[in-house]
Amino acid sequence: MPEPKARELLDLEDLALHEGATVLLRLKLAQLAAGEWLEVRGDSAELAEGLTAWCRKEGHRCERAQGVAHTYRIEASAGIPATSTSRMEIRESAEPSWGLAPRGARVEAGGPEFAFTLREKREVWARELNAIYKQAVAGQWSAARDIPWDELPKLAPEVERSVAQVMTFLTENEFAALYVPARFIARIHPHYREVVEVLAMQVADEARHAEAFTRRAEVGGAGLGITATSGQLSLKTLVEEPDFTTATFLLCVMGEGTFLTLLKFIGEHAPDPVTSALALLAHRDEARHVAFGMEHLRYVFEREPERKASMDAAVARRSWMLASISGLSPYVHDALVIMAGGGVEPRQIRTGAHRVSELHREMDRARRERLQSLGFAPEAAARMSVYHTKNFM
Ligand SMILES: [Fe+2]
Ligand SMILES: [Fe+2]
Repeated sequence: MPEPKARELLDLEDLALHEGATVLLRLKLAQLAAGEWLEVRGDSAELAEGLTAWCRKEGHRCERAQGVAHTYRIEASAGIPATSTSRMEIRESAEPSWGLAPRGARVEAGGPEFAFTLREKREVWARELNAIYKQAVAGQWSAARDIPWDELPKLAPEVERSVAQVMTFLTENEFAALYVPARFIARIHPHYREVVEVLAMQVADEARHAEAFTRRAEVGGAGLGITATSGQLSLKTLVEEPDFTTATFLLCVMGEGTFLTLLKFIGEHAPDPVTSALALLAHRDEARHVAFGMEHLRYVFEREPERKASMDAAVARRSWMLASISGLSPYVHDALVIMAGGGVEPRQIRTGAHRVSELHREMDRARRERLQSLGFAPEAAARMSVYHTKNFM
């Protein structure tokens, strides 16, 4: 019987297998369908024996060409089966066996299964992820490069201590805002890579905020102030929230939403240009974190409107858990009053106290507005805003 005609020819000359001949073999074989033949010529001494062994390992059949020296024939096998994923089509559910494969790659069968527990699109997705990520990349700033540290004046000791206390409070909140997305990143299936990428940028933003606020407290000479138990209790309920959507709602919509008002307030009333610049740069980042939270919740509510009630309940539940906390810690409240009033003269305290009570009103107004834009009725929005933690985050 005549040999079937080879579809491709490969001349290895004197290139040995251990010198890279397998690269050329694989390149040629990849162009063949299962059952098609490759004719290989080569003068390397070890080829006859090595090629047969290599073909066996790769699953191809190999034989000597009849009557021609230094020539071999390889029948291509079907190769390892692979699943194709699409770069553009985002599936409603992601398979554990796709593992870490980037969307759009072909995934070899038989790979390990990863324990990603968030692998339904409706659990994690949001619109505008690409826009949010691009803005985050373009908006990265550096505490070393972009803050006018040299312009920090010598402030009155009470004012400097108040700024440092506010920075302490901000830093502990930044850590909570870092740990919450960080806890979930490892659970989200990489098929939803845009969510992972946005959250990774969020983690990097919070690390920078924590670094910059701590540095501001130290550079003025007062050093870090006091971390209140009430604040830690509040943040613990946030950091331990097990559900992604609920945690995103409490952190990004309620907490970081409230922080937007706080950072704007600090930007306006800071006694020095360094504190003001820090607050405004952090505000810009937080606006993106809030945008992600809002888009995620919109996506979830469109598909599961009943989840609005569970968010309402989560805010109430957190409020009961924190019932022993009467309000914002006096350390933070008093520091905000002194900072916003510009000193400790009675008239300055009056001004500062007035501004801080205005701050609370504005936080409440903005929270209600945000909740209503997510579709909560005005009464529900008002109740949830009142129940929101007095610690702001
Ligand atoms: Fe932050
Ligand atoms: Fe944030």
